[in-house]
Amino acid sequence: MSEVKQTAHINPKGEEIAETVLLPGDPLRAKFIADTFLEDVTQFNTVRNMFGYTGTYKGKRISVMGSGMGMPSMGIYSWELIHVFGVKNLIRIGSCGALQDDLNLYDIIIGMGASSNSNYVSQYHLPGHYAPIASYSLLEKAKQVADAKGYPVHVGNILSSDTFYNADKEANDKWRGMGILGIEMEAAALYMNAAEAGVNALCILTVSDHIYKQEETTSDERETSFTKMMEIALDLAE
Ligand code: ADE
Repeated sequence: MSEVKQTAHINPKGEEIAETVLLPGDPLRAKFIADTFLEDVTQFNTVRNMFGYTGTYKGKRISVMGSGMGMPSMGIYSWELIHVFGVKNLIRIGSCGALQDDLNLYDIIIGMGASSNSNYVSQYHLPGHYAPIASYSLLEKAKQVADAKGYPVHVGNILSSDTFYNADKEANDKWRGMGILGIEMEAAALYMNAAEAGVNALCILTVSDHIYKQEETTSDERETSFTKMMEIALDLAE
């Protein structure tokens, strides 16, 4: 009898997990994507309500699962998906707070690099400063898909922060001055886990709030309205 794989956080009970997994932070957004875009859907995870689903999109198998908020949560789920379940392409789809004047609510950002104020990188004991970057093949394909759909995207460096409520207001000015497009909370851990394992990762974001223009979307809008970003990510299934 073949071994049925499970971890402390993912228990597929024998259901399939595809080689490409989309990772929204919110498990209800994972459910929305499965309900809206996928055919022949099975649910592969309910542990901690971190819902995961596998289905077919344009004839290709793809999974979608919540990653939770913050780098420790993304670190756990992406590590288990890669090392236990053999996932090869991990695509975070999430929201971010914009830092640059030319960005507006609902703009799409692709994170070419993920700078960070987190200590996640210290586990690798590297003799210098590591630059977490996206997989170039996924990045190039995502840009091509976005162009073909006529969806404008901004490609550049993002900040993966350990805090949402930032007491150090000058920090935002400094990151903005270095050209960081927006702040989110998970991509750097995903890029590092993927790099260490030799698999592909990408982070696509939709601007949910603008830190300098003081504009924001509602949580209901965030749950369902980021469909352009979802369509780009779904087209990355191999
Ligand atoms: N995700 C969405 N908006 C954010 C912000 N302002 N800071 C960090 N993560 C975010």
